[in-house]
Amino acid sequence: MRLHPRRVGALSPPRPVWLTALAAVGFLGALAVALALGGRADAHAYGGQAGPAQQLIATGKQVFRFDTFGDEQFWGSTLQINKAVAGAAHGGVGPGVSPKTALAVGLKVDVNALPASVVTALKNGTANLDDPATTLALLKLNAVVGLKGVFNGSGTLTSLGITCAVCHSTVDNSLAPGIGHRLDGWANRDLNVGAIVNLAPSGRLQPVADQLKVSEATVRTVLNSWGPGKFDAELFLDGKAFQPNGRSAATLIPPAFGLAGVNLHTWTGWGSVTQWNAFVANLEMHGQGTYLDSRLDNAAQFPIAAANKLGHTRHSPDLITSKLPALAAYEEVLTAPTPPPTSFDAAAAKRGAVLFAGKAGCATCHVQPLFTEPGFNLHPASDIGIDSFQADRSPTHMYRTAPLHGLWTHTKGGFYHDGRFPTLLDVVNHYDTFGHLGLTPREKSDLVEYLKSL
Ligand code: HEC
Ligand code: HEC
Repeated sequence: MRLHPRRVGALSPPRPVWLTALAAVGFLGALAVALALGGRADAHAYGGQAGPAQQLIATGKQVFRFDTFGDEQFWGSTLQINKAVAGAAHGGVGPGVSPKTALAVGLKVDVNALPASVVTALKNGTANLDDPATTLALLKLNAVVGLKGVFNGSGTLTSLGITCAVCHSTVDNSLAPGIGHRLDGWANRDLNVGAIVNLAPSGRLQPVADQLKVSEATVRTVLNSWGPGKFDAELFLDGKAFQPNGRSAATLIPPAFGLAGVNLHTWTGWGSVTQWNAFVANLEMHGQGTYLDSRLDNAAQFPIAAANKLGHTRHSPDLITSKLPALAAYEEVLTAPTPPPTSFDAAAAKRGAVLFAGKAGCATCHVQPLFTEPGFNLHPASDIGIDSFQADRSPTHMYRTAPLHGLWTHTKGGFYHDGRFPTLLDVVNHYDTFGHLGLTPREKSDLVEYLKSL
């Protein structure tokens, strides 16, 4: 769903009913609950005694979920998203963002952060999901995945920051759609980042527009073109908003799990996990840290990054660099979840595995069980039969062989970096045509079942 900022309010009923059970509840102490969560990584991390490695992973989990790196400076002070979220009735501007609207743009609510009374109200349908006051209450509980509200003594939302979890986590919908237990590392393919940034009140995107040397209206059009599950990490480097074919230049949010053993990261192999973490925390989230990358001085490829010296970013104090070891350690242990046994045809998947390693030639690049090259895992676009637009927005000018574990968790939005193939069968058909593989319809569907089983 694409939301224009002015239409966000339209999703809420005109007169919100102020009978929310949430507002009546005291919320102190719930934050502690949010911090005491389980997950796959913990099973690894706490299998033995909590030594230094376990402590590093536990710290990394906190950073991944809750650390904004001081990016409130951007999302709050500059963009003033906090004001749009609060609404005029609560010290902000406009209609405010109701929980219904927040869920509609793909934000998720962590059930473990909610007191029992709120869980009951949600179950009974007595919590008012049309009232921005409820959103504020959820933010106070630290229950909105990947968003951190800053409140003053009188309860006004004075700022807002984002964490890695906003894009790279979702929930299991155990309580309701969009409300459940955290699933760290899963790509949030419901999240409409563009619509959220577009919440910035009129005039607040001007600094961004100035950097891109376009009008604020153009920035808003670009943000609206992204759609759910997508983000453009290169826009503020090269200013390219659209592919030559007119499609958005944004890429899909990939999972942040299943990356152990994988050499280069991102769709186009920008670097290691820790290179990319530093990049994102500084240049995309706009946290306060240090990012040094001479590749961004290439003014021909990255005119905006070069002009703004983004490869020489330094803040004091540095709120990012000291957290990189823990963050990388946590991502290292986020394994891809196994698919439910009923979600694929096991016999067909077994036949598909043979094809994958044999006739279809997939394993020449997607080497089992890593599913990318052990070694150098980048390819020119011509190796996979697609255009080089996105590859050319990276210093590598190549595409990274995507690791394939957990494909079943991100079928929404399509496959390949920009989601150009809506289904796994479309992916297989592409390889079949491009590589003259001569796969029969049954072989294709066997391959698809295998991909679903990873
Ligand atoms: C606004 C959404 C957003 C946020 C916030 C975000 N990411 Fe990402 N992440 C993306 C997108 C989009 C990509 C793909 C970028 C590309 O290929 O150009 C990506 C790529 C990655 C990758 C590479 C995955 C792979 O398959 O190799 C890792 C690792 C990662 N992010 C970790 C993080 C961490 C850690 C944070 C917090 C410091 C973070 N991200 C914050 C959207 C986001
Ligand atoms: C020449 C190396 C190479 C071969 C051979 C290859 N792939 Fe890929 N594969 C890639 C690269 C590179 C990407 C990333 C494309 C992108 O980022 O747009 C990819 C992406 C994918 C994706 C999308 C993953 C995602 O997260 O969207 C799937 C699925 C996939 N390959 C399956 C296969 C199958 C099935 C075969 C065999 C029929 C195969 N690949 C053969 C290199 C290869």
